[in-house]
Amino acid sequence: MDKFVIRGGNPLLGTIRVSGAKNSALPCMAAAILTEDEVVLENIPQVRDIATERELLVSMGAEVELGYGRAQHRTTINCRVLSDPTAKYEIVKTMRASSLVLGPLVARCGLARVAQPGGCAIGDRPIDLHLKGLERMGASIVQEHGYLEARAGKLHGAHIVFDRITVTGTEDLMMAATLAEGETIMENCAREPEVVDLAHLLSAMGARIAGAGETTIRVQGVDKLHGARHRIIPDRIEAGTFLVAGAITGGDLVVANCQPAHLSAIVSKLQASGARISALGPDSLRVRGEGALTSNDVSTEEYPGFPTDMQAQYMALATQAEGASTVTENIFENRFMHVGELVRMGASIKVDGRTATVRGKTPLSSAAVMCSDLRASASLVLAALVADGESILDRVYHMDRGYERIEEKLRGVGAQIRRIGDMFGAGRREAALEVPVP
Ligand code: EPZ
Repeated sequence: MDKFVIRGGNPLLGTIRVSGAKNSALPCMAAAILTEDEVVLENIPQVRDIATERELLVSMGAEVELGYGRAQHRTTINCRVLSDPTAKYEIVKTMRASSLVLGPLVARCGLARVAQPGGCAIGDRPIDLHLKGLERMGASIVQEHGYLEARAGKLHGAHIVFDRITVTGTEDLMMAATLAEGETIMENCAREPEVVDLAHLLSAMGARIAGAGETTIRVQGVDKLHGARHRIIPDRIEAGTFLVAGAITGGDLVVANCQPAHLSAIVSKLQASGARISALGPDSLRVRGEGALTSNDVSTEEYPGFPTDMQAQYMALATQAEGASTVTENIFENRFMHVGELVRMGASIKVDGRTATVRGKTPLSSAAVMCSDLRASASLVLAALVADGESILDRVYHMDRGYERIEEKLRGVGAQIRRIGDMFGAGRREAALEVPVP
């Protein structure tokens, strides 16, 4: 398994570029199931989850080209033939977002077999809200042998009120509703930018959607959808991670190719903690970590609140801020896996239920640490960038799921970071991610 070796102490200086949003690309790739025509998506990030989604679509019979040639970062998907509407366990177990194919498959094929995603490091990750919504739209769902089988002659419109806000639940049912008979009204929807981006693609495919990005979404079903070309929005969590990196290392970093409007909660929290952040044109932010960082409480909320996907990264920053910061995780039940590793690097953190109290500023010392999930890995990279000495981060495949070439990007702005692979290259990123450009 690949590892990162990071020597701390360098301020990050220069320009770092943000890739396309993994959490928009995944539902948008699933949306291609809804049409027999070709769907072309630009600005696709070169991350493992995208390769997994490609494998999933191909396993169902789709044709999926995925190229990262110079400035290409494009996928062309054709789901004319879907010979096997099944999301197999071997694939789903590596990426629970596979539940995003459930709604599109039932809507397009009248049948979907999706392995139950199971939990992951950060929580149980149920999909009951997806299933309840599909049942209200007329699907019958049985569960056996670890698979969910959903069938429907033709879905019909329904009035759905989500018991709690779910991002992929909103996306899954919005996709299903595009081909349902009649109108679907969904209330208590997620308002994330990735939901809006998906709605833009679906509308370009001929869907009739109103209210994406608000708590109530209305969808008028249509008979068919056609192909489209769409550019994926920038990854706001990658951008936020880089803003923290610039602040925590006392650097002067331009975060380019981002969407500042998606970063308001992150920027205001970092500014309150002493980071100097300014806009540099429509798609770039400049972050300077000049003065001392000061403690600040953060509580994760659904968008537009402070994102749970930035909680671990903020905690790393809080270890370098003067005073006590409380970090409260309201979305997932087990998203403090990074705490133990940060403590091993010298951080002072106490967890009580859903709240961690971080006392700073504590000097961090390098250590051999273990990555446990995507965003916890990012937290450990940030800590290692300021730790005294050389840290070894193991199981960086977690990082490769959602950050494109992160070590190259960070090295490009002065970080001392390198990837060491296993002797035989079996776990090497290139082997898993590089797909020949057609
Ligand atoms: C999406 O996951 C993101 N993944 C996650 O990003 C992100 O952390 C999360 O939204 C919250 O913003 C993708 O978009 C692929 P939820 P999702 O459904 O949709 C509960 C990352 O790091 N819930 O919004 O799975 C659930 O347990 C990943 O990039 C139900 O109870 O999250 C959680 O407590 C991690 N029943 C809460 O709702 C359901 O049917 C929010 O989950 C669905 C969810």
